[in-house]
Amino acid sequence: MTIMSNNIESKVVVITGASSGLGEATARHLSSLGATVVLGARRADRINSLAGELAGKGGKALARATDVTDPQQVQALVDAAVQEYGRIDVMINNAGLMPHSPLERLKIDDWNRTIDVNIKGVLHGIAAALPYMKQQKAGHIVNVSSVAGHKVGHGSAVYAATKHAVLALSEGLRQEVKPYNIRTTVISPGAVATELPDSATEPGVAENLRRFYDRYAIPADSFARAVAFALSQPDDVDVNEILFRPTRQEV
Ligand SMILES: NC(=O)c1ccc[n+]([C@@H]2O[C@H](COP(=O)([O-])OP(=O)(O)OC[C@H]3O[C@@H](n4cnc5c(N)ncnc54)[C@H](OP(=O)(O)O)[C@@H]3O)[C@@H](O)[C@H]2O)c1
Repeated sequence: MTIMSNNIESKVVVITGASSGLGEATARHLSSLGATVVLGARRADRINSLAGELAGKGGKALARATDVTDPQQVQALVDAAVQEYGRIDVMINNAGLMPHSPLERLKIDDWNRTIDVNIKGVLHGIAAALPYMKQQKAGHIVNVSSVAGHKVGHGSAVYAATKHAVLALSEGLRQEVKPYNIRTTVISPGAVATELPDSATEPGVAENLRRFYDRYAIPADSFARAVAFALSQPDDVDVNEILFRPTRQEV
């Protein structure tokens, strides 16, 4: 009897933003499918306890406190994965925030933070993982965009700009890594129930966002299953883009 591989089992998967929401759900799902997961986020207590929980269920998991705005910390996360497990098969650049506000409120600190995490954080992940993957002549880089990478809504200009940038970076990356047998996937979710709306603090904006999420958001394993779908394809199949929404989300 031939047992089909899920092409996820034993893969070493680094996930940024693994302390909550989509990253946490993905760590749990991939671990349940046999992947080794290496978790990065700033809240060390959360990722340590998640790694402990997954190890308690028989999985392999490692946690490293990581701020993705610092390229050295992202490099240390990826280096830790390679030192501990010998390789990196998948880099999931997931960390992000969404402090929506109309531009006229001039929240320049929020703009900079959003750009630093959502764009530069993704670039730091690529920079850390790419040299290893080139050397391995194998690997898979998954970036997280959004429906906001395809549509700009009122009050979401900066967030949408960062998510458009993630789409552009992912397409450029896709073209450039062909010689190294590296796969690339950019995933654009609609409203998924996570802590993301909490990153909006502007009066009026936060309440509207919370109402929208309460009405439309679907569970975070929807995203985890999309990641697993892309990873589990045979090595000669490169799922480059996935866009999904809650069935009832119109925007
Ligand atoms: N939920 C949705 O509806 C939705 C839709 C489209 C796209 N997305 C995207 O999905 C990704 C994950 O968001 P989520 O929905 O899961 O929200 P979340 O629950 O708020 O999770 C965000 C994650 O990013 C991490 N993070 C934030 N700043 C960081 C930094 N400087 N360094 C390292 N990690 C940092 C957070 O960890 P720490 O605070 O512990 O560092 C947390 O683990 C984001 O890129 C978001 O834009 C989400």
